[in-house]
Amino acid sequence: MKKYIIQGKTSLSGKVKISGSKNAAVAILPAAILTSENLFIDNLPDITDVRTMVSILENLGVTIRRRGRNAIELIPGNLARIAPAYELVKRMRASYYFMGSLLARFGRAEVPIPGGCDLGPRPIDQHLKGFSALGADIKIEHGMINLSTERLKGANIYLDVVTIGATINLMLAAVAAEGRTVLENAAKEPEIVDLANFLNAMGAKIRGAGTDVIRIDGVKKFSGVRHAVIPDRIEAGTFMLAAAATGGTVTVEDVIPKHLEAITAKLREVGAQVQVEPERITVTGTGNLVASDLKTFPYPGFPTDLQPPGMVLLTAARGLSVVTENVFDGRFNQVDELKRMGARIKVEGRTALVEGGGNLSGAPVTAPDLRSGAALIIAALMADGTTEIGAIEHVDRGYEILEDKLISLGASIKRISEGDLMQMPGKFPR
Ligand code: EPU
Repeated sequence: MKKYIIQGKTSLSGKVKISGSKNAAVAILPAAILTSENLFIDNLPDITDVRTMVSILENLGVTIRRRGRNAIELIPGNLARIAPAYELVKRMRASYYFMGSLLARFGRAEVPIPGGCDLGPRPIDQHLKGFSALGADIKIEHGMINLSTERLKGANIYLDVVTIGATINLMLAAVAAEGRTVLENAAKEPEIVDLANFLNAMGAKIRGAGTDVIRIDGVKKFSGVRHAVIPDRIEAGTFMLAAAATGGTVTVEDVIPKHLEAITAKLREVGAQVQVEPERITVTGTGNLVASDLKTFPYPGFPTDLQPPGMVLLTAARGLSVVTENVFDGRFNQVDELKRMGARIKVEGRTALVEGGGNLSGAPVTAPDLRSGAALIIAALMADGTTEIGAIEHVDRGYEILEDKLISLGASIKRISEGDLMQMPGKFPR
């Protein structure tokens, strides 16, 4: 297990360049197998989830050439494998996008039931309903999802819930189906638009991405392209919330401010100053924050991925804030850990009551998942004393060179591995 040791009472200040979007990258990479021609993808974040995706592609037979830290060339050639390895797939949820792209390329896919962050129940019924409507036979046995079809056929599919995963998976399959597919009640996230732009550049015919009705006319051939992944709005939002929470001033650079409007609005509401320029946003924490309610919703609402860091910000805001999680059942993994640090939070169902304005204090805590890990890092920067955060492998899945970026903003943060820990016994009594 790897850990962070963070000294508290640190205001972040300076400029930070935002990396490419994790959730766009992990949707775009599986689409590479639609063609046998070479592709070039730039602005890929160097994070564990992207490395896992790249390993799955290699496992399927794609040749990968690294072109620096954030770019790769993919040479899919004549692939034959339809079953990505369980050992790789179980590491990340987005590996299930190979269901859509393998179906499109081969009419067959054998994908293990996926893993991913524990955010409560994460059903895939909408994915399967959609694949079935497109003409796939589905069998689930021995932990595998087996999909097969003679020919994918376009269909009208109404998604019962707004789901990013199903919207992406069905787009990946429908681009190669015979005729037209209409996805209704589709997710509208910028990552979906980025995937649609990538697929359209490859030859797909997708219209309406970014709205809740996506129309896809199937095509037979896809070509190689060059593409740069959009900036990560969740990484940018994490730094913006951290700036406000620590009473510092941080400029996030290379961002698309339109994608960050919900965060900008919430920060202003709690009393932070926010200056928006064409490709950058500067947030200043005034040290005088006031309570505000926070409700998560699909885009363009406040993103569920920023709910844990947003909750930490509210612990610093005077008064009672109500946080409502509308996207996932039970995404409050961070709460027990924050309570160890002295936060006053009470959870009732999908709602958390945050009594803000008190001080947090350094404590040994464990990152329960990726975004809760980010929340604990912000809490550690705010707290009195030293905080040790365990299981930071979760954080490595989604934040590129996080400690380097934080150190450049003035944080005192150190990564230690199990071996180093043996040499510092008793640092924190457990
Ligand atoms: N849902 C269903 N049935 C389905 C699919 C989803 O009921 O077939 C429900 C889910 O249980 C949830 C809601 O629909 O209540 C939304 O789920 P969605 O499918 O949108 O989530 P996801 O695709 O599994 C992606 C991101 C998550 C992010 C959510 C919500 C990726 C790889 N993951 O997950 O990102 O939290 O959308 O915005 O894009 C993260 O980056 O830390 C992360 C967890």
